[in-house]
Amino acid sequence: MNMQRFAGKVAIVTGAAGGIGSASAKLLAQQGASLAVADIQEERGKKIADEILAKGGKAIFVPVDVSSYESVQLLVETTVKHYGQLDIMFNNAGIFGEGKLDLLEMPLEEYLRTVAINQNGVFYGIRAAAAVMKERGGVIINTASIYAFLADRRQLPYHATKAAVVGMTKAAALDLAKYNIRVVAIAPSMIDTPLVDRWREDERVWNYVRKAQMRQQFGTAEQVAQVVAFLASDEASFVNGHEFYVDDGAASFKR
Ligand SMILES: NC(=O)c1ccc[n+]([C@@H]2O[C@H](COP(=O)([O-])OP(=O)(O)OC[C@H]3O[C@@H](n4cnc5c(N)ncnc54)[C@H](O)[C@@H]3O)[C@@H](O)[C@H]2O)c1
Repeated sequence: MNMQRFAGKVAIVTGAAGGIGSASAKLLAQQGASLAVADIQEERGKKIADEILAKGGKAIFVPVDVSSYESVQLLVETTVKHYGQLDIMFNNAGIFGEGKLDLLEMPLEEYLRTVAINQNGVFYGIRAAAAVMKERGGVIINTASIYAFLADRRQLPYHATKAAVVGMTKAAALDLAKYNIRVVAIAPSMIDTPLVDRWREDERVWNYVRKAQMRQQFGTAEQVAQVVAFLASDEASFVNGHEFYVDDGAASFKR
């Protein structure tokens, strides 16, 4: 495999201060891409950009709040101003509810906040990136989840928004095909990142969650990053409009 397969390419990764985002940003940079490391967490995001630079890669940190279209537009603008182009957009930032309240107990704000980040954030990323990519094509990757297809208790906003990400991926791929822009999604299961840290406190829950995978192990952010890099690459040039499971079969068997 050409380990510099992204040489000359420019990539934005949102949620790049987090587990899946930082692993993906680092891998894309390692394989030659120039990175815009974007996140709402400035300190951690800058640290990831510095780590990429220290390894000889190219990176800038750009603060973003994906729930604001202006902020996402500014992220794309800043990236294009800095590097001159945009080839890969990884709309990955997302939040996961506490899971303590069912739909009748949950404040409306929790639903609306999840929609603003997980759903609107992905739409804004698709729209702002495509407006630039339409000149020379590109790849947009959105982070969905196996929870787009399976329900768990007390997580309605998460399920709703991740299903929306799958729907938007298909619709966007169709609309953007004429610009040679591919749009795909990943659907991870339980990946060991800060997002699932809260389960670590309860051994019973942790073990239950672990058994949801066929080989009874959490995935790692690095395993997801490998799939992201594949989907972003020309090796996946005929993959479009689909979600790609990264779940050790979790969504394939009856528990
Ligand atoms: N970890 C899992 O088990 C798992 C499974 C399926 C899907 N996912 C999805 O993967 C994506 C990445 O999650 P992760 O596991 O790496 O979690 P994480 O919490 O480590 O990373 C999420 C990142 O998103 C950032 N973020 C949150 N709100 C933001 C906003 N408004 N603007 C910009 N950035 C914002 C956070 O600061 C954080 O760095 C999310 O979309 C999540 O839903 C995770």
